[in-house]
Amino acid sequence: MSGQNILITGANGQLGLALQQKYCDAKAVDSKELDITNLDTLMNLDWSGIDTIINAAAYTNVDGAETNEGRVSAWQVDATGAANLALVSIEKDLTLVHISSEYVFDGSLENHKEDEPFTPLGVYGQSKAAGDLSVGLTPKHYILRTSWVIGEGKNFVRTMIDLGKRGISPTVVDDQKGRLTFTTELVRAIDHLLTSESDYGTYNISNDGDIVSWADITREIFSLSNLDLQVTNTSTEEYFKDKPGIAPRPLNSGMNLSKVESTGFSPSDWHEDLKEYVNKELS
Ligand SMILES: NC(=O)c1ccc[n+]([C@@H]2O[C@H](COP(=O)([O-])OP(=O)(O)OC[C@H]3O[C@@H](n4cnc5c(N)ncnc54)[C@H](OP(=O)(O)O)[C@@H]3O)[C@@H](O)[C@H]2O)c1
Repeated sequence: MSGQNILITGANGQLGLALQQKYCDAKAVDSKELDITNLDTLMNLDWSGIDTIINAAAYTNVDGAETNEGRVSAWQVDATGAANLALVSIEKDLTLVHISSEYVFDGSLENHKEDEPFTPLGVYGQSKAAGDLSVGLTPKHYILRTSWVIGEGKNFVRTMIDLGKRGISPTVVDDQKGRLTFTTELVRAIDHLLTSESDYGTYNISNDGDIVSWADITREIFSLSNLDLQVTNTSTEEYFKDKPGIAPRPLNSGMNLSKVESTGFSPSDWHEDLKEYVNKELS
């Protein structure tokens, strides 16, 4: 699919950068070029030739969102910004692709389905849930609900590779369970939904493969990196015991992928994509 008719917002984030690689001819704008919290700017943009917005813009600092300042930003970007894009999509008759998070759930249930009621624990999840509600009102929307995103930017895999290179044996939580989502896979799913003209709505998307803990993933990263380092398991409660202001985290992030699979999309196994990612990082 060509990107000529696509506007990518938040183009310099992890997902935005991956989208730019896929859709080289898309109109890609970063936060300075287009601030999604400004409705007037959005409405007055030249929309000629654009029929789809892919919103990769977000406030993603889950702990920052728990501060007074961060709470404002999270709600401005993830709730108001999404609502602004929803409004402009309705006004200009555009398709809106928006990204949600498993943080809209409290994690008490395993194997999240798309229609699970919202139960966000922290400010980030609350503001993302508010964004989903607005986007869900637009006639032509795809909400892709994802988890544990890994791409070009600051992320868990890079942090662990960095610790490993410095010979640090980390203590890592083993009670938060989920699957990684590589941005390449997220982009592939977006492109699939758009090109196959699948029914509008919400779709879970992560890589496939077993549902594991952050500690398990760290062991795999070290093994792939040929690093002989110990990973000590801990609980989320224990890990954050002396760290005030940390956002509550859902313990179950694993998502049911059957809806997106029913459209003909097969998510790749996270083990394979992790291997490729680690090899690239170390080369
Ligand atoms: N990262 C995860 O583990 C994770 C998990 C589940 C869901 N998600 C969702 O996946 C999506 C992509 O996440 P990501 O990891 O790619 O995020 P990211 O790397 O943090 O990128 C977000 C981008 O949004 C931009 N942005 C912030 N405020 C903006 C504004 N007002 N207007 C326009 N752009 C703005 C940021 O630009 P500046 O840097 O200039 O502010 C940044 O480039 C988000 O919707 C996120 O909520 C992420």
